[in-house]
Amino acid sequence: MIRARIEGTGSYVPQRVLTNQELEGIVDTSDDWITTRTGIRERRIADKDTTSGIATKAAKMALKDASVSPNEIDLIIVATVTPDMFFPSTACFVQSNLGIKKGVPAFDISAACSGFLYALDIADRYVRSGASKKVLVIGVDLFSRIIDWKDRNTCVLFGDGAGAVVLSAKKGKRGILSTHIHSDGDYWKILYAPSGISQKQSAKGSIEHPYLKMQGNETFKAAVRTMGKACMEALRYNGASAEDIALLIPHQANQRIIKAIQERLGLPEDKIYTNLERYGNTSAGSIPLALDEAVRNGRLRRNDLILFVAFGGGLTWASALVRW
Ligand code: ACO
Repeated sequence: MIRARIEGTGSYVPQRVLTNQELEGIVDTSDDWITTRTGIRERRIADKDTTSGIATKAAKMALKDASVSPNEIDLIIVATVTPDMFFPSTACFVQSNLGIKKGVPAFDISAACSGFLYALDIADRYVRSGASKKVLVIGVDLFSRIIDWKDRNTCVLFGDGAGAVVLSAKKGKRGILSTHIHSDGDYWKILYAPSGISQKQSAKGSIEHPYLKMQGNETFKAAVRTMGKACMEALRYNGASAEDIALLIPHQANQRIIKAIQERLGLPEDKIYTNLERYGNTSAGSIPLALDEAVRNGRLRRNDLILFVAFGGGLTWASALVRW
């Protein structure tokens, strides 16, 4: 049976570190509030970097790690809600930056923080259908560009970052075992960024500012509910139980959300990978960034079962189970 196997991983974060202490000078907040409520201590903020720029850096690293040359890639998917431009897609910029051969399909998908798992789902289907052999999948966001730096409810939560994987079509038991993606558009108002084209003007004719808006408590509850369900769905589909999981790599939004999922699954703490204390919520970059770090820290061994789970604006939520 042909499966999509993760052959290489890569990631990139901008150099500039923004600490909680520095945020105390920007909005009415405290290191203690942010750490206690979220687990975040610092995040990275892009200066001149662009979304396609940091995506390209993460992709280069993943290609090198997989020992795959850009010419072998036959599909590029970028998950982002903060693209360089409305069009061309960020994936087209990455294609050009890396010199990936002409004619290869390249496109972006929009599912906010669930974006990387949505992209993985699509890539997996291309590989299993035989349409693609080597796929570059990138999750990347520069939320610093859509954050209202006067809004303490949101500006403390996010950071910028990118992660990438190279998938190869391989026979055998290792690779992506399942993906499940979901959405419920009725919940769009709990988390959105109104920087659109078709809805550029409000009813009164004024242009809405583009910043991210969030109902924190509602988002928190939706995150716990949907990610809990998504984990159970992945386990049930594969006839697996929580004890079989070697590592859970959840979307890195809030330590308390992750803790609630951990308790629902009954997993010990050492089976959960977190790095949000250093990067905050990097949206579509979050899971592949954590994955790349976990790989480099020696946390994944061959044949381990790795569970990924995410939620994001939309509302969207998703899971993937991988035999490493
Ligand atoms: N510093 C100090 N006080 C603050 C801050 C801050 N940065 N932000 C809010 N507060 C205040 C509030 O004003 C409120 O004060 P009040 O009681 O006087 O009104 C108080 O702290 C409590 O606010 P709550 O919103 O009830 O705090 P809560 O414990 O719910 O934590 C948080 C807020 C961290 C935002 C939490 O709700 C959360 O993490 N929600 C999920 C967010 C999330 O994951 N978003 C990303 C989604 S993924 C995507 O697709 C982008």
